[in-house]
Amino acid sequence: MDRTFVMVKPDGVQRGLVGEIVSRLEAKGLKMAAARLEMMPEARVTEQYREHLEKPFFPTLRQYIMSGPCFLMVWEGKDIVPIVRKMVGATNPAAAEPGTIRGDLALDIGRNVIHASDSPESAKREIGIHFSPEELVDYTRIDEAVLYE
Ligand code: RTP
Ligand code: MG
Repeated sequence: MDRTFVMVKPDGVQRGLVGEIVSRLEAKGLKMAAARLEMMPEARVTEQYREHLEKPFFPTLRQYIMSGPCFLMVWEGKDIVPIVRKMVGATNPAAAEPGTIRGDLALDIGRNVIHASDSPESAKREIGIHFSPEELVDYTRIDEAVLYE
């Protein structure tokens, strides 16, 4: 099974969208392996978004992510990274397809509700930033036998 890092950003938490987002991932058949609600410390915001450190939008991105609690999760499933990116939709919610999380639940690129890792390498790196190995729960979902061929 593959893993990815998913985070409901502060606007999503404040708007009460954690349940809706978790529901979509659960209904897809993906398995939650870890979750935590927290105010993300600056050091981990910088580490999470280090590829964007030099971008003009980085200071406002950091401010946004630190503006309230985030809901951090690890999810598992076969080939999960591209599957969840598809479910999340385009970075700019104005361009995101209906049916995607951003397409259905957000309007503005600077308030796009959710983060998901963009490659298996990023997923491994990001899970390592936010979770210790002991926090990842190993169990079997009762419907796994019918979810996969
Ligand atoms: P994320 O990392 O949060 O999952 O989003 P993403 O891969 O779809 O987009 P990315 O290019 O990695 O950008 C990270 C986050 O920075 C904010 N952003 N603002 N104002 C802008 O032009 C701009 N561009 C990016 C968004 O919150 C984006 O999700
Ligand atoms: Mg990204």
